This record gives sequence, structure tokens and C-alpha cells, in this order.
Amino acid sequence: MNYGDDFQRLSKYGRETLKGRSLAWDQKPPLYKAYPAELERVELDKPDRSGGKPLFDLLQNRRSERDFKFTSISRKILSQILWAAQGISLATKHHQFRTAPSAGALYPVETYCLVNNVEDLKNGIYHYTVPYHTLVLIKEGNFGTELAQAALGQSMLRDAAFVMVWSAMIERSKWKYEQRAYRYIYMDAGHIAQNAALAAVSLGLGSCQIGAFFDEEVNNIIEVDGEQETAIYMTAIGKTW
Ligand SMILES: Cc1cc2nc3c(=O)[nH]c(=O)nc-3n(C[C@H](O)[C@H](O)[C@H](O)COP(=O)(O)O)c2cc1C
Repeated sequence: MNYGDDFQRLSKYGRETLKGRSLAWDQKPPLYKAYPAELERVELDKPDRSGGKPLFDLLQNRRSERDFKFTSISRKILSQILWAAQGISLATKHHQFRTAPSAGALYPVETYCLVNNVEDLKNGIYHYTVPYHTLVLIKEGNFGTELAQAALGQSMLRDAAFVMVWSAMIERSKWKYEQRAYRYIYMDAGHIAQNAALAAVSLGLGSCQIGAFFDEEVNNIIEVDGEQETAIYMTAIGKTW
């Protein structure tokens, strides 16, 4: 089976592809994932959107760092990196645009945060609620070792201050782009993760992108079904000094 080759070929646009296509607006999936009201919410500090190091210094200095020191970071820093990755940077009448581009402004990527070592924040698995810039506590506890094991034993996931786990809500993009949606979802994730990596450098932290993991194990950790929503990528962030 050559799934990858088939996917690349079958998801190509040709001049005939788009003819006669129309959108079922009444079936457009919601843009935001909602969790039950009874779950604990954590209000994040308003992110500081100014200053930081010059972009070209960040580009020069970003490296994948894997040797995290098990030391804490502040909630303020977590707030800034979440905003840099997925926060809203422009609200208009019909759209809430984010820091990273997204095909059709559909934003199919959801952000989860495994907190290992952040000041004034319980360890656990959180979901980042973009429009409110809050975290929803999905489950409390130490999940770093479990996540490291799910990522082929990459211990940096246990030692990082936090790990952002990116998932895809497939239908949110597929509703419009059909099979080509998969290309766009992965591109979206790349933009998001790079924003997080550059923000980390700007704040004096290291980061590493993680694509190697046992999908269903990570899906279980963030409590998603692996079909309608599935984990696609991770970014580990922490101090390396
Ligand atoms: C899609 C993707 C998946 C990656 N997966 C892993 C991973 O699972 N583990 C790891 O240690 N590094 C991973 N990396 C980091 C790469 O190894 C790293 O980016 C590459 O060696 C280049 O080094 P640099 O990031 O320091 O420039 C991944 C990078 C990308 C873009």
C-alpha cells in the first residue's frame, strides 16, 4: 500500500477539479471546540504583544533543543507562547484571525497543553480555548512520562516545562477542501509550531518539534477519538539552562 503516494496524487487540483463544487453552508462545522462548563478554567495573563528580539536574530538562533532542565517557567510566558502560536490578532465582523495563517480561515488545529512545570498552574492536560485565551483543565496529574513513552521514549517530553500537542479537527477543513484538506491541515500545523518555536527563542527558552509518536497513545492522553479529531504534531518547550 502506498498511501502517501496515492494521497499526493489524488489530492492534486487540476483545472477540472473545482468545477461544479459548492459549499453546504448549513453543514459548516463550528470553528471552536467547546468543553463542558463544569470543567475548571484558568484565565491566562493578557499576552504581551510588543517588543521581543528582532526577527532575524530569532531566525538565526532557533535550534531544536532536546536537553531541557527540569525548571519551571512562569504562567506569563506560557500565555505569551500560546498567543504567539494560536492567539487572535485581528477580530473583524465575520472572522477572528490568528497569529498563524490558516487555509480559508477555518483553523482546524486545536491546541492542548501538557503542563509539567509551570508556576501557579496544576500539572495536567489542558485545552487552549482560543477566543477567551483561557485553559480548560481536562485532567490533573503528571503525564510527562506517559507522553514521552507515547513519543517513542523521547524523554524531553517529560523534562520540558510544557508540551503543546496539536490536533486536527478534520471536518472543519474537509467541509470545504475535501481530500485536499489534509494537505492544508499539516501546513497550518507547521506555521503554528514555528510561531511557537520563535516565541520560545524570544523568551529565552528552547523548543523541539515532535512528529514521531504513537498516534493512538497521544490521542488517549489528550482524550480525543483519533478519527474526527486526531493528534498530528507536538512542540516541547522549556529552559535549557
Ligand atoms: C515535522 C518535524 C518532525 C520532527 N520530529 C522530531 C522528533 O520526533 N524528535 C526530534 O528530536 N526532533 C524532531 N524534529 C526536529 C528535527 O530533527 C530538526 O528540526 C532538524 O534536525 C533540524 O534541526 P534544527 O531544528 O535545529 O534546525 C522534527 C522536525 C519537524 C519539522
